[in-house]
Amino acid sequence: MFEHFNTPEEIFSFKLGSALSMERDSLDMLTQLQSQAQRPELADLLREHADETRQQIANVEQCFQLLGEEVNDSPSPTTKGLAKEGASTIKKTDVSLVDDVVLAGALETEHYEIAVYETLVMNAEARGTKDVASLLRQNLEQEVAAAGKIKDMAQRISREGIAYRKAPHQER
Ligand SMILES: [Fe+2]
Repeated sequence: MFEHFNTPEEIFSFKLGSALSMERDSLDMLTQLQSQAQRPELADLLREHADETRQQIANVEQCFQLLGEEVNDSPSPTTKGLAKEGASTIKKTDVSLVDDVVLAGALETEHYEIAVYETLVMNAEARGTKDVASLLRQNLEQEVAAAGKIKDMAQRISREGIAYRKAPHQER
């Protein structure tokens, strides 16, 4: 673990290690959210992204190998905070609205992951480490696609919820 950064390469390795912790946290969070999702289609979407996340973890580990460095997992307090926030909000939420909270937590996490990979890809390209940049770009593209799917579902579910609450009370 670095005590003090003296080169861009050291910062890159530290951030790559944070990305590894981020993905491991993300996998735990996705598994947790999947078990709490009420709609089967949401559970399926989270399961699908959990599978992608396993591949992303392998990609990040491979980046260390390509750089000839030992795999390290630097801290990633942001993802731990997002997971904690999601879990505590779900506890306080009526079951009929849990999916909205699950989707919000998933989307917030994806956007953080996108920002992390955008920086890593930029730095890997600047260093001329094409293989590393390519693996990180694969992860970035999966995160962007996942965020898009989560956002589409969140929009649809929130509109359905508002339409339902606006509807006059009918017999059920
Ligand atoms: Fe992700």
